[in-house]
Amino acid sequence: MKAVAIAHPNIALCKYWGKQKAAGNYPAVPSLSMTLAGLATRTEIEIVDGDRDELVMGGGPADVKSLARAVELLDRVREASGSKKHVRVRTENDFPTSSGLASSASGFAALALGAARAFGLDWDDARISDLARQSSASAARSMFGGFVELEAPQATPGMFLPAKPVAPADFIDIRMVVCITTDKAKETPSTEGMLRTAEKSPYFTAWLEAAPRIFSECKAALLAKDIAKLGDLVEQSSFAMHACAMAAGVLYANAGTLEALAAVRELRRAGKSAWATMDAGPHVKVLTMARDAEAVAAVMGAQGGVLRVIVAKPGPAPVVEVG
Ligand code: DP6
Repeated sequence: MKAVAIAHPNIALCKYWGKQKAAGNYPAVPSLSMTLAGLATRTEIEIVDGDRDELVMGGGPADVKSLARAVELLDRVREASGSKKHVRVRTENDFPTSSGLASSASGFAALALGAARAFGLDWDDARISDLARQSSASAARSMFGGFVELEAPQATPGMFLPAKPVAPADFIDIRMVVCITTDKAKETPSTEGMLRTAEKSPYFTAWLEAAPRIFSECKAALLAKDIAKLGDLVEQSSFAMHACAMAAGVLYANAGTLEALAAVRELRRAGKSAWATMDAGPHVKVLTMARDAEAVAAVMGAQGGVLRVIVAKPGPAPVVEVG
């Protein structure tokens, strides 16, 4: 049995940062994302006769940590399907892994979907999203296209928590201009950054209080198609998350990041729609209206600290083929 799944990365408009204490990877705050078109992870999963799982990433054998995370997901699928078989997984991104686009989101969404189908599980998208969440919470959101939310109800171990679609990809004509500020791998992986923030940041409680309000207002602005308000809240969410993390010594910005952030403000002063958001890395993603996307990409790409830009539309849900 073989399955090939294709999933797309997503960028959080409202950030998930922090986990609940209950085991099972439950986010401490709700998040809202946009799935990106034109960028994809393609994952092939083949059931084999061997005695262990094999993982090939981008043409080479995976590192020990990535393999362990994949095996954890595969073990859940084996348990649910009652199979003891192992698999050969071959996964590739058609975008650079160092691009600051969360490849773990599209990667685990593709793995969850492909593995569930390869082992013959007849699960719906919500169950597969819940499976992906257990590996990486942002991956739960890549199980759907367009605009997607992941709520953060008080969790009990093993509780079912999938992401949910909020609006389709063609709901609003916006773009994400991804500005890459380095080709080096990120310093602090998101899981580690979150744990350190929770442990050390004097502002973590303030973040936990503010994030649900920012999320509700952000979702309302999206549904009202109020792009200026949405942009303002997108910046608020990102700056609040990074201020909180920075107070714990978790710093993701580099000099290019600050230059890009200043350029976004300058674009706004010049009358363009442009709002910045950042994840667990130094890259800056600029939310803009479709009509301004070309001008925004040109200005951002001309900044000395920006190596290159990728312009992405809201994208589709993942797909899978079983053969
Ligand atoms: C800053 O989903 O990578 O990109 O659940 O520990 O795997 P784990 O974390 P992950 O964190 C993403 C953090 C973020 C914000 C977001 O995507 O919501």
